[in-house]
Amino acid sequence: MEHTGNYLAALNFYIDAGVDEIIGEAPVDRFAESRIQAQSPIPVPLPRQGRPAPSANPARAAKQGETEAETSAKALAAGAADLSSLRAAMEGFDLCPLKKTAANTVFGAGNPAADIMLVGEAPGADEDRQGLPFVGVSGQLLDRMLASIGLDREKTYITNMLAWRPPGNRKPTPEETAMCLPFIRRHIELVDPKVLVFVGGTSASTLLDSRVGITRLRGRWLDYHTGPEAAGATIAAMPIFHPAYLLRHPALKRLAWIDLLAIKARLEDIC
Ligand code: URA
Repeated sequence: MEHTGNYLAALNFYIDAGVDEIIGEAPVDRFAESRIQAQSPIPVPLPRQGRPAPSANPARAAKQGETEAETSAKALAAGAADLSSLRAAMEGFDLCPLKKTAANTVFGAGNPAADIMLVGEAPGADEDRQGLPFVGVSGQLLDRMLASIGLDREKTYITNMLAWRPPGNRKPTPEETAMCLPFIRRHIELVDPKVLVFVGGTSASTLLDSRVGITRLRGRWLDYHTGPEAAGATIAAMPIFHPAYLLRHPALKRLAWIDLLAIKARLEDIC
């Protein structure tokens, strides 16, 4: 009986943290695990001789050296000559921890020959189940946003920065993001749209390599470079509020509408 309260508290904690699915066949007793950990000291990794100590900041730590996963992702992405080879390369990539808990690799959907490409953050539960981007509640709002400027899935190409769902929809770690970056960068290069839309702050700040938040980035035309500045192409890019954010903050739809009109005007101008 005494444990029931503990289990209920743990369950409530999981729900509050966004865990909405069971991913294992067998139950795991986390209380037993934490008792063992409390008894044994946690090993502290020592910096290797000749190398600087890893940064306490995880974002910077991810940038200090290239991991095996990043190196492998870069080679696979660079070797993909077209979208189907890129999809096959990503489906065969087993170094991203997110892939182990995801049901599907969510590659992309829509028309790869479209003038406009949208890049969201990562698949949610519905996307993971169906293997398609933006098919859940926020996808439905995105569809309505696109329809308001005469676009639909046939006139757009949609993907995400990450192809695998982070468990419980948690934020991807800097390491997970870094190892997925070569894939999305190659994805954009292969689709080669005239206009890029970053859906939400995470894809905008990561792909533009900017620390500026979405509230200040949204609605601005920015240059996205597909390669090192002189070598690659430059694509006109606009960050917009994520539909999931708009669902939580409906008053911001007014600003989203202004951004959509700017995208519509740009497409009419250049296409
Ligand atoms: N949110 C995203 O960023 N992408 C999806 O595909 C679904 C929800």
